[in-house]
Amino acid sequence: MNSPKHILLIIGGGIAAYKSSELIRLIKKSGMTVRCVLTESGAQFVTPMTLAALSENEVHTTLWSLKDETEMGHIQLSREADLVVVCPATANLLAKMAGGIADDLATTLLLATDTQVLAVPAMNLRMWNHPATQRNIEQLRRDGIIVMQPDEGDMACGEFGPGRLPEPPAVLAEIMNHVIGENIVGPNPLEGQPAFAPDQHRPLHGKHVLVTAGPTREPIDPVRYIANRSSGRQGFAIAAAAADAGAQVTLVAGPVHLPTPTGVMRVDVETALEMEAAVHDALPADVAIMVAAVADWRADTRADQKIKKQKGDAPAPLKLTENPDILAGLAKHSQRPGLLIGFAAETQKIDEHARAKLTKKGCDWIIANDVSGDVMGGAENSVHIVTADGTEIWARLPKPEVARRLVAKIVEEI
Ligand code: C5P
Repeated sequence: MNSPKHILLIIGGGIAAYKSSELIRLIKKSGMTVRCVLTESGAQFVTPMTLAALSENEVHTTLWSLKDETEMGHIQLSREADLVVVCPATANLLAKMAGGIADDLATTLLLATDTQVLAVPAMNLRMWNHPATQRNIEQLRRDGIIVMQPDEGDMACGEFGPGRLPEPPAVLAEIMNHVIGENIVGPNPLEGQPAFAPDQHRPLHGKHVLVTAGPTREPIDPVRYIANRSSGRQGFAIAAAAADAGAQVTLVAGPVHLPTPTGVMRVDVETALEMEAAVHDALPADVAIMVAAVADWRADTRADQKIKKQKGDAPAPLKLTENPDILAGLAKHSQRPGLLIGFAAETQKIDEHARAKLTKKGCDWIIANDVSGDVMGGAENSVHIVTADGTEIWARLPKPEVARRLVAKIVEEI
């Protein structure tokens, strides 16, 4: 059995620091050891006592501790780790790291270490979007530091957007991605969540898989929209299965009520135009699986005010414009993914229509689903895999099982 891996966790000062407690618990549960360094501002949000109790290790807070220095020098503290994780990495901490500033224990360790560093940013969305932060992140990535993408969503400050700390299971998945190779000792700490065995063979490690899922919603006026019955379940299951297989996954999701699978970077969009932009932003990708049921049309103009029904009047005319075909566009893109997969919802002549779509859209595989029954929004799917080499017909299966088999087929292909 391999010896347990050691994580040095540096906790910066932001409201997301409270999530470090859960992260420590998950790291420990996975059989790794963790030692914490708390910055002065981090200590405004979590106490050394909590971290020491959870990590079962002394917590380090200052450069000037004679006791720490005689027992374990600060350079050794970072060098004995298999991975240094900065979580939450505040805008300030990232800026200091990018600039090589070493003015406290955390930043001194980061400058002195030769161990791989993983930074998990969390900050207000304007701080995240600020050119200075983006410049620092680019610099850090060039310097070989892994910088996770923050989540999008509601923030503690009441705003909405990118900058949220990814959920602790996603951070753990990322940690595993980088210390894996040798077995992690211990049980799967993510039990009950989408299957992820830390000691499992992770064949998509190092690959970026892009998935679209769910419907798009095309506004007519501030209260009405055009949409469809897609639940997003098949796409979310595929994103989860790809993450389980070790891929870095970007999931561009239309409006659905589904939790983000563990270890998956989710980008929420509403319209087809937003989905297209998010897909292009996510490139390059090794594999793209376009599962979303993109609305074919959008309202030609979006009324600023609610369109009023007037007594005796004919219904308001609805003029439609065609949406871009995101899949076909990606097939012609200069950064076309090496394996491009489309879905096709069909109610009749499934193979014939799917094969025609394969050519028309310029993708490599079409997964045709027979939606004549209750597939759309349901728990199971019945698919035909149409490729240049022929057609495979799969029995009706639960959507997570379709996802698992599809990912296995992708692994075989690439
Ligand atoms: O043409 P149809 O809608 O049947 O094609 C379905 C496939 O094309 C799916 O993979 C879907 O995600 C993709 N698609 C797209 N952009 C559109 C329409 C469909 O990417 N505007």
